[in-house]
Formats: sequence, C-alpha cells, structure tokens
Amino acid sequence: MNKADRYLACMREMRIRLEKGGNLIADLGNIAAILKKRMDHYFWVGFYFIEDDRLVLGPFQGTPACVFLKKGSGVCGTCASEQKTILVPDVRQFPGHVACDPLSQSEIVVPLFDLKGNLKAVLDVDSSMANAFDQVDQTHLEQIALEIQPLWKI
Ligand code: SME
Repeated sequence: MNKADRYLACMREMRIRLEKGGNLIADLGNIAAILKKRMDHYFWVGFYFIEDDRLVLGPFQGTPACVFLKKGSGVCGTCASEQKTILVPDVRQFPGHVACDPLSQSEIVVPLFDLKGNLKAVLDVDSSMANAFDQVDQTHLEQIALEIQPLWKI
C-alpha cells in the first residue's frame, strides 16, 4: 500500500472509532494510535492543547515527551502562533526546535481548529528519518484535522 492509501485506511478506521466515541481524550488517543500503527515512517505522533501562551501535552504514541511548550517557539509553538502547517525536513535547521527526543529528525505539525475556527490544539508528527514528510502527509493530515473539528464541543 502506498502512503496515500495508508492515510485513507487510517481515515476509514478513525471514522468507525469516532462514531462510537464521544470523549475528547479517548478519541484523540485512538487517532494517535491508528496513525502510529499504520504509518511506519512515524516515530512519534500526538496532540498538544493550546492553553493561553503555552501548549500542553495531550494523548500521544511514542517516547515520553515535553509536557509544556511555549507558543511562538519551536515547531509546535510556531504552528500555534502562525496557525498554519509547518513542515520541517531537518529539525536541526529549524531555529528553536525543541528536541523532546534526540532521535527525531524531521517533523510536521498541523493546527487543529474547532467548528468556529478557534485554534484548540496542534497535531505533531515526528520521524527518526530526515525528510520523512512531504505534500502527501500534509494533505492527508490537514484532512484529518478537518475531521477532528467536531470533537471540540462548542
Ligand atoms: N519538536 C517539537 C516539540 C514536541 S516533540 O517533538 C514531541 C517542537 O519543536 O515544538
């Protein structure tokens, strides 16, 4: 299966889980687990919630990670302040990159909005390989971000 097909399989599995879901933390935990299980270029995948001027670690799959990140710095913090996807082919080249695990080599972070357009969280994916992410990852992760929107109760 190519990468696009694997993302489509993730989305099918997520929709089934979300239909039977209804609890934000549990649902996000299942989304992280589905992505980590099917995407073999992922080293770490998880959510950081927006909380005032910082981000707080949410459900994730992978090695232990930093609990708090500062809005506006690092990859996740930049995604949160710019409110757009940040794709980093080589984390060593990204000023302020926060190395929660030194094995991380490349990263993509996608903003997550509620249905009113308020930024609620970011979805962070790390790989232990450089240049692991491309437009296929970005397109599908942004689609997943849209499907997550209704989970934020507003
Ligand atoms: N590398 C991220 C921090 C989060 S960890 O990768 C899980 C950053 O620079 O914001």
